[in-house]
Amino acid sequence: MIKVLFVCLGNICRSPTAQGVFECIVAAQNQSDQFEIDSAGTGSWHVGEAPDRRAQKAARNRGYDLSALRARQVCSTDYDYFDYILAMDESNLREMQHQCPSEFQHKLSLFLEFSAVNESEVPDPYYGGVNGFDHVLDLAESASSGFLKYVLANDK
Ligand code: 4NP
Repeated sequence: MIKVLFVCLGNICRSPTAQGVFECIVAAQNQSDQFEIDSAGTGSWHVGEAPDRRAQKAARNRGYDLSALRARQVCSTDYDYFDYILAMDESNLREMQHQCPSEFQHKLSLFLEFSAVNESEVPDPYYGGVNGFDHVLDLAESASSGFLKYVLANDK
């Protein structure tokens, strides 16, 4: 089982979108039984909440259903449990680098390292317009495909 955790700040916009997209791409390749996939936020403000309505709507327009997801905060046991911990931006990455024991630091990386785009961070869409959510989906689709290829080539 390959365990993957997507991490952003609130766990209501970017990381649930990444989780939903990656789950869908994994399922389309008949690899669901190989993966455990989750998401979390470095912040605690939205714990227990469903994804932001704008994120759910933009995802639904592309066939991804995020409605069952509930926000949670990253916890210390995540660094041991998960194999890959993928941060949406540099700030999330730095926050986790501070918390994560040195033996698990190699599990941390930026999600977009695996994308085909020339951007390193998934911009926070929370305070922006609705187009921000479509951009998050574009980035999540690119990075999810790249990450799945990477994992299947390197981890099986
Ligand atoms: P996310 O977006 O990190 O992609 O879930 C945010 C959601 C909420 C807040 C910030 C970012 N907030 O400040 O409440």
